[in-house]
Amino acid sequence: MSKLKQLPQLTLALLKPDIVVNPTIRNQILHKIQSHPHSFTIVEQKDILWKLAQAKAFYKAHEGRFFFERLCGFMTSGKFTALILAREDAIHYWRQLIGPTHPCRARVVAPGTLRATYGLTDTRNSFHGSDSDDTAKREIKLFFPDFDIDEWRRNQNS
Ligand code: TYD
Repeated sequence: MSKLKQLPQLTLALLKPDIVVNPTIRNQILHKIQSHPHSFTIVEQKDILWKLAQAKAFYKAHEGRFFFERLCGFMTSGKFTALILAREDAIHYWRQLIGPTHPCRARVVAPGTLRATYGLTDTRNSFHGSDSDDTAKREIKLFFPDFDIDEWRRNQNS
């Protein structure tokens, strides 16, 4: 019986300003996520500096929550790196690799994850990952408007 090869999935990842401010750490992370056993392919990569309105739009679902202003302030405090990552089950595996939202919780329940290792506080938690296929599509379009997901898929199939 032939074993079907699973096609890679795309996800949108952010290395937040607390990571990008330190080029050595940022490069360590870029290396780690492409290496065994994680083996993500970096399909696209871009450094971005947001205006406050852009941060507020991206995190609109959290508007009114106690951390909203703090989060938008942090995300506009410096450049962050946006990545399109590919591998099978990329959405699941990237969120698994970064770990829970709160670094202090991550250090207890998921030691060794990226947030457990690098995260500072609930807000300065170093990483973002899309939480579903629909979200990934929307976020990829937002950060990489010229990237054609359908064309990328066609090239994987050929
Ligand atoms: P959320 O979507 O709940 O988490 P995740 O990034 O793990 O998918 O929250 C979005 C961001 O909001 C989170 O990465 C950091 C910020 N945040 C806080 O600053 N404090 C909090 O208590 C929570 C829940 C989120």
